[in-house]
Amino acid sequence: MEPIYVLSDAEREQLAAVLHSVGKSPYEDYEDFSRAVGDVVARGEVPAFFADVCARIRDDRRSGAGDAHVLRNCPLDEEIPELDLDDPVADKHAKKKTFVGEAFLELFAQLVETPLLSYATRFNGDFFTDVVAINRYSGMQTGFSDSELVYHNDRTAHPVRADFISLLGMRCPDGDFVYTGFVDGRDLLAHLSEEDQLQLREAQFITPFDVFSRDNNEDLTVSEVHPILENHHSFRYLDTCTTAAPGAPESAKDALLALKNAMVRADKTRHRIRTGDLFTFANQDGLHSRDKMEINDPARARRRWLLKTYAFRDAAAAEQHADRWLDGVRGRVGD
Ligand SMILES: [Fe+2]
Repeated sequence: MEPIYVLSDAEREQLAAVLHSVGKSPYEDYEDFSRAVGDVVARGEVPAFFADVCARIRDDRRSGAGDAHVLRNCPLDEEIPELDLDDPVADKHAKKKTFVGEAFLELFAQLVETPLLSYATRFNGDFFTDVVAINRYSGMQTGFSDSELVYHNDRTAHPVRADFISLLGMRCPDGDFVYTGFVDGRDLLAHLSEEDQLQLREAQFITPFDVFSRDNNEDLTVSEVHPILENHHSFRYLDTCTTAAPGAPESAKDALLALKNAMVRADKTRHRIRTGDLFTFANQDGLHSRDKMEINDPARARRRWLLKTYAFRDAAAAEQHADRWLDGVRGRVGD
């Protein structure tokens, strides 16, 4: 996929210097960190080119022009440590002493006006998490493995779900080709009949929680009965897992089959995230996947590291969940 903007090396360094000046750890006190990034904005230190490109992305999302964007040659930390894949979170906290990547993601979220979301029961409630191949999940269907991932949205089974996901390529080995697929919900709708859409809008489907969620909270087994299609074109769906609820009518299963066909036929965007790429896309108004197109060195491919954030569509969407904030931290919810 073509980037909406490629930073020049000078622009990248200029922005990195601003981000470096934040000087706080997002892992010690997120709100303090977020305020410090907000202060950078308030002082007028954000380079105009970056404010402009964030405004373009915000406008594209609001006008419906597009829900998937790439920025290239983004600022990263000077030192990107190798993480111990037995316990990458603890290892990151121990080794990572600068937070340029995190400040970049926070600044991006503030400028596109999409407040961040975190889950208290995973990664210490951190707002900046890692897409890495955790050893104990090898081969399993979770973003924290080195597996391919079928089309899905993140936290499909969870009552509070991100509207947008942003992935920043911290280390993406050049010789291995891992693609993130994205299908826009509007392109799925175009392949679904009125009747199938009506069936998908009924609460008659279930989605089991993934292995990573179950490991972090053993009470989580299966979602409540839910519709697959919500709003205009939000899909709540994890391929090969979301299914008709027990006792659902035949028409629900027909609609599920129609959706599977629509997913095969619909146009898709595929992007290979490179080191320094920001790939940001809708989590609910579309589905995404991970395809390992060509892995030439499996050990090298397992060193891939993406820094990730979840975000709400806007302040109003975040506010709808205000009664769920844990410890008074805006955006941090329980399971
Ligand atoms: Fe995902």
